[in-house]
Amino acid sequence: MKPIEVKKDIYWVGAVDWDIRDFHGYSTYKGTTYNCYLALDEKVVLFDTVKKGFLSDLTHRIHNLIEPQKIDYLVVNHLEMDHSGSLPEVIELIKPEKIFTSPMGQKAMMAHFHYKDWPVEVVKSGDTLNIGRRTIHFLETRMLHWPDSMFSYFPDDKLLISSDAFGLHWATSERFDDQVDPSELMHHAAKYYANILLPYSPLVAKLLAQVKEMGLAIDTIAPDHGVIWRGDPGRIIAAYDRWSRQEAVAKALVVYDTMWHSTELMAKAVADGLQDEGVCVKLMNLATTHRSDAITELLDAKALLVGSPTLNNGMLPRMADFLTYAKGLKPTGKLAAAFGSYGWSGEAVKQITEVLKEMKLEIVDEGLRHNYVPDHEALHKCRELGQKMGQAIKAAGLAPAGVRCHCSQG
Ligand code: FEO
Repeated sequence: MKPIEVKKDIYWVGAVDWDIRDFHGYSTYKGTTYNCYLALDEKVVLFDTVKKGFLSDLTHRIHNLIEPQKIDYLVVNHLEMDHSGSLPEVIELIKPEKIFTSPMGQKAMMAHFHYKDWPVEVVKSGDTLNIGRRTIHFLETRMLHWPDSMFSYFPDDKLLISSDAFGLHWATSERFDDQVDPSELMHHAAKYYANILLPYSPLVAKLLAQVKEMGLAIDTIAPDHGVIWRGDPGRIIAAYDRWSRQEAVAKALVVYDTMWHSTELMAKAVADGLQDEGVCVKLMNLATTHRSDAITELLDAKALLVGSPTLNNGMLPRMADFLTYAKGLKPTGKLAAAFGSYGWSGEAVKQITEVLKEMKLEIVDEGLRHNYVPDHEALHKCRELGQKMGQAIKAAGLAPAGVRCHCSQG
């Protein structure tokens, strides 16, 4: 229950959730953290709170530094319940003199908590708050990833408290990027981006340009989830730059579901064809792969190949789930094609192709179907589909996937 010093007199006082395995559809198979930061100055400021049920973690850590009732100000950078679920209890405990939040934060706070007498004060981009030796600068980051999202920046400490941005779901005893395995770190960061921020990529790109233009000196980024970037914050900024442009490498994701292994045989033959062309392939069966892990692999893939047999005149339910999820995340600039086995009606491939078109992906082939179990000739056609896609990927002149093929890392 120790607080961890991030900068002189600025501490991490959050909670580690080792048990959470589902985050509204995102598989958090290694848990997460709910980060909060406490600045000790002439005014004592707490940045964000924790999910409901983790109040004791927060208050015990604060108690190691100061009586919670001595906190003067609360800054609410984000209203999603993983950071605000304990807000009413925190307010009741510390009775803050003021609560600072963005204009949209105030609306969200009212809509969530229907408060009457909280001392809420709205701050906008460019507003500052002097707390003694330090001044906090606020920057609204609307839709990154909620309308209320906001950054808090300490120029003298070169510290950016970045809310959900630059975060990752990973429960660790370590609090900093330079204390954990760098490969696993970037995998979790990529997964977080792919599953949370991908639809807002144009706004991420705009924000990165804005931060550059403002010339903000940053040597530490303290997000609301996962480790704090102090060893190499440039690495995650560079990764966000690539991910926000949806930069792809010579890699394809073949994602499928299967009833009696016929579509699985087709998927493997498609993957063989891609490999014939020297393209890195990730082959993922939705029966054993979580949708959020498949999306992570899609982040830097140039092509998406989707396979499903036909069941009751449609695609298999797990594929419908995946495509609904993928469509909402708005991946762009990718090539696509569908395939699948069928018995008598065979609508799945056409339906999948329609969804891929709705996603505005570039259809390289109108789809490959096979009646019942594919024989050698049918598998050869699947392989040719893979080769055709592989050639289209190569024509895009992309960098080889290399080691990044294995985990979408930066
Ligand atoms: Fe971590 Fe958008 O909440």
